[in-house]
Parts: sequence; C-alpha cells; structure tokens
Amino acid sequence: MTNPTSSIDTNINPDIQSIANRIKNGEATRIVVLTGAGISTGAGIPDFRSPITGLYDRLAPLGLPYPEAIFHINYFSHTPEPFYAIARARHPRNLKPTISHAFLALLAKKGLLHFLFTQNIDGLEQDAGVPSDKVLWAHGNWKSQHCYKCSAHYPDHLMKKAIMSGDVPYCLQSGCDGAVKPDVVFFGQSLPAEFEEKEKEVPDADLMFVLGTSLKVAPCSRLPGLVKGGTPRVLINMEKAGDIGNRGGDVCILGTCDEGVRKLADALGWRDELEGLWADAVAAKGHDEELESGPSLDECIEKLAAQMKDRMKVSDGHKRMLENHLGNKFANILAKGPASK
Ligand code: OAD
Repeated sequence: MTNPTSSIDTNINPDIQSIANRIKNGEATRIVVLTGAGISTGAGIPDFRSPITGLYDRLAPLGLPYPEAIFHINYFSHTPEPFYAIARARHPRNLKPTISHAFLALLAKKGLLHFLFTQNIDGLEQDAGVPSDKVLWAHGNWKSQHCYKCSAHYPDHLMKKAIMSGDVPYCLQSGCDGAVKPDVVFFGQSLPAEFEEKEKEVPDADLMFVLGTSLKVAPCSRLPGLVKGGTPRVLINMEKAGDIGNRGGDVCILGTCDEGVRKLADALGWRDELEGLWADAVAAKGHDEELESGPSLDECIEKLAAQMKDRMKVSDGHKRMLENHLGNKFANILAKGPASK
C-alpha cells in the first residue's frame, strides 16, 4: 500500500543514516528485534500503558484491584469475565499488519533478521511475512486455547462464539468447571521454554531494534541489556524506554514506529520495496465478516462495569480480601513479569 501523504525524506537524521550505513556495509547481519504493543497501535489496537488511550487507563470503570489483574492468572481463575468482555474488541483477526511489521519481514527477506522477540499476541508479524521460525511469541498468541485448570483443549469454533458473545467459555470435560483461556501468557504463568534458549543468543547480535515497548515488563525488558557494549541498540518508540540512549552507539528515534521505519527505509534505499511488501501483506490478510462488527472497547468496558457493580455489592468482603492480597503482591509482579509465580 503506498501512502500518498508520505514523501521520501531527503533530510535524513545522521544517527539514522549511520545505522543504515552499518546495515548497507554488511556490519549488521545478525539483527535482533524486540517489539511491543506500540508497533500495533497503527493497526488499530490500543497499547497498554499510554495515558488515556492505553488499555489500562480505559479499564478504570471496572475498578479492578490493579489494571494488569485482567491478565493475571490468579484473578482470571475466579473472575474471567473482564478478559472476555474485551476479547472481541481486542481480537486481532481482522487487523492488517503495519508498515513497521513489514519492515521486520523485509529484514528477514534480506537474511538480516537473526531473531524477533515479540510481546504481542496479535500475530501481525507473521501476517506481514516474518517466517515463524524467526519469531518467539514471548506472551503467546490467540491461535489455540485450553482450560486454565485441567489444560483440556477447547474447540476453535466454540472459542470464536465466546469471543463474539463476550461470554466466558467453560471447560467441556465432565467434572471440570475451569474457564477456557487462549494460549496467551498471563502474569503468573511461565514464558515458552524457548525464551531462555533464544535469550542466550542476544549477546551475539550485531544490532538490536526495539520497537513500540515501554520496557516495563520482565523478562523481555531485560533483553536490550544483554546486547554487548558497543553494539548499537536502536529504539523506535514514542518515548524513551529502559536505558536505551545511555550507552555509546544507542540511537533513539522518537515518534511513531511507522514514521521511524519509513525514515530508516529511506536511508537504506529500501522504501519502494518496503511499501510493496506491505501492500502485498495487507492484501493477503483474510477477513472475517462475523467478527467485523461489534461493540467498541469502551462500550464493552461500560457494559461490564455496570454488571460488576451489581456483583460487587454482594461480594464486597471478597473484593477487599482480594485487593489486600493482590495489592501486596503487585509490586513484585511487574518486576518479575509473566514468569513470576
Ligand atoms: P506498553 O503499553 O507498556 O508500551 C507501549 C509503548 O509503545 C509505549 O512506550 C508507547 O509510548 C509506545 N507507543 C504507542 N504507540 C506507538 C506508536 N504508534 N509508535 C511508537 N511507539 C508507540 O506495551 P508493552 O511494552 O508491549 O503483557 O507491554 C508489555 C506487556 O505488558 C504486554 O505484553 C502485556 C502488558 O501487560 C501481558 O499482558 C502479560
């Protein structure tokens, strides 16, 4: 898809040009990338922590013990309703990859992408054409689902029904009353075993790109710190994140990911190829009419807030107990990340 409003940037920032030169000169052939929610906001899915527009601020009407509780396995085990109330509005089925996702596919196509760690569960990297053996979905994905309690598989067509209705799906095994959960990694759950293996390869990177993440959640947040001193780390993000910018060789391209990758593509002379690859990926992405229409995220939240208010009246004591319990634990949760138990 060519963007009629964009034009080739003839005034390229010297930091961006130096990264482009490194790639063009063959000095960066083992590029490691870490992505987060900010790479997909351009596709129409809000990130988590941006003030006002981010999911966590928008969950305020639900009065959760803390916003991340919606993705905590302990909370989900007894209150799965909030997760399903917003599932349809956040489901990636009809989202198109952005030009930033296409940039990652282009790095792979040119044989320069060593590995991509993504914290996202939307699968847009694969939709853009990044080969699946080059990606680790550190926080899982929506492709399959199991009972959180007994781990029994749950059929895809019933899961789709649940996402469309917003009703919690329950395990079909007799005697089990567990809620079904897509195979995304919640706080309190372990990351895929492959994470530890791939993490060991980060020091071998000769360039790292970090796109669209606040670097607030471990263990992904520690990956940029594993890159060897002197190896360039390039942050493309709306704001500074982690310690990127503090080391010699670091480059921060502040702004949207899409603007950042376009500037890089211009500096590399790859712009036309990138736009073409992106257009093809967008055209190739299928479309599910049934999941197309539906209430907006804020409508889903409002509806559930009204339902939860009624329920909380009955179980105020339980809510207080829960808040105390989770409140004490919360300080540790983000520091340890999803793998914390
Ligand atoms: P966050 O919401 O914490 O951070 C997103 C970052 O992207 C912020 O720094 C934004 O400023 C930036 N951003 C937003 N839109 C952007 C755009 N168009 N271009 C460039 N930057 C943009 O999301 P993550 O860091 O991905 O985990 O969050 C990590 C984990 O926390 C998630 O995987 C999720 C969440 O809780 C679980 O639920 C287990």
